[in-house]
Amino acid sequence: MTSQYKFQGWLGLDPSSAQGKMQWKEYEPKTWEETDVDIKVTHCGICGSDLHTLRSGWAPTIYPCCGGHEIVGTAVRVGSKVQKNIKVGDRVGVGAQSGSCLKPECEECASGMENHCPRMVGTYNGKYPNGSKSYGGYADYCRAPSHFVIKIPDSIPSAEAAPMLCGGITAYSPLKNNGCGPGKKVGIVGVGGLGHFGILYAKALGADSITAISRTSTKKSDAMSLGADKYIATDEDPNWAKHHARSLDLIVSTVSSPSMPLEKYLQLLRTHGQFIQVGAPEDRLPAFNVFSLIQKGSRIGGSAIGAPHEIEEMLELTARKGVKPWIQERPLKEANQAVRDMDAGKARYRYVLVNEGNDAKL
Ligand SMILES: NC(=O)c1ccc[n+]([C@@H]2O[C@H](COP(=O)([O-])OP(=O)(O)OC[C@H]3O[C@@H](n4cnc5c(N)ncnc54)[C@H](OP(=O)(O)O)[C@@H]3O)[C@@H](O)[C@H]2O)c1
Ligand SMILES: [Zn+2]
Ligand SMILES: [Zn+2]
Repeated sequence: MTSQYKFQGWLGLDPSSAQGKMQWKEYEPKTWEETDVDIKVTHCGICGSDLHTLRSGWAPTIYPCCGGHEIVGTAVRVGSKVQKNIKVGDRVGVGAQSGSCLKPECEECASGMENHCPRMVGTYNGKYPNGSKSYGGYADYCRAPSHFVIKIPDSIPSAEAAPMLCGGITAYSPLKNNGCGPGKKVGIVGVGGLGHFGILYAKALGADSITAISRTSTKKSDAMSLGADKYIATDEDPNWAKHHARSLDLIVSTVSSPSMPLEKYLQLLRTHGQFIQVGAPEDRLPAFNVFSLIQKGSRIGGSAIGAPHEIEEMLELTARKGVKPWIQERPLKEANQAVRDMDAGKARYRYVLVNEGNDAKL
């Protein structure tokens, strides 16, 4: 069956695309398999990872690359072998992951950790086992394997659901999996897209107190409105690490730059505290004195997005607690300007591209 619609979107053709030089072009989607779903995209968030990838910041990108992995839209084609309860016309989404091996012998896939499968396929700049490339959601349509396609609960608007599918889950998962809840004092470093979700979900999970840690005080009132109880502006108080030493059980760091005061962040941990890095700088993290870990028996770790079942759990919590992300909707046709603004740190706190051509309303 040939599709009645065209796969076209904003393609990065070289690293300059991250400076807002993407071009609207047609491309060849993944070869159809009966386990796939085609999504008519209405909304797509802009994630920091889109910029790292468009500019080949982590590794050489396989251009052309269509960014966007916070995708929501309508299922327009559902394969005959799709086992999930997804029907044509359903409101669905896909996050940063569009594939894993799903083999019973895979330790990760067999235990609900598809996000850690060694054969994970990213929603863009990835390669499927059938040789096709993956293309993201700055586009009219997106084809994704149904295992990674998530139904969106009725009470969550599409524009709000979209950024939860990467930004939201990347903040939620390390909080949930590292004990965030009553009795815990949590810190979130970086008040950006992921960071603002970190504050919202730490609150929704019932943390005793939430400390937002940012470079300057410009985002202080926003962070407090989002649910933070305390705020640290690291560029403005030379003694911040001393003033707030041993105050946090769990820190989730969303910082996207390698020039971070890591050793000072570790000073904020209580004994047996944990520091989880989710921000993915393009260069190595700073060296730090190992006694900042040894002395307090503290730990440093990482976390990658979240498995489909965790995304569903997060959406359920979002609906139940009425979690509201702070988003700014931008027309898909102005994606290049939105990418430039994201790179300049202007998003408050997530840009969501709205596909007016697909009847989505701004
Ligand atoms: N682990 C995963 O699975 C995963 C998933 C999604 C994204 N990520 C990564 O997480 C990082 C954050 O993504 P995001 O979408 O939240 O981006 P974002 O909205 O740009 O937020 C990043 C935040 O980092 C802080 N920051 C500190 N130093 C910075 C610098 N020199 N330049 C820019 N920002 C700096 C800023 O917070 P303040 O202004 O408050 O200081 C900024 O708001 C990216 O590296 C992204 O690739 C990882
Ligand atoms: Zn992302
Ligand atoms: Zn696997």
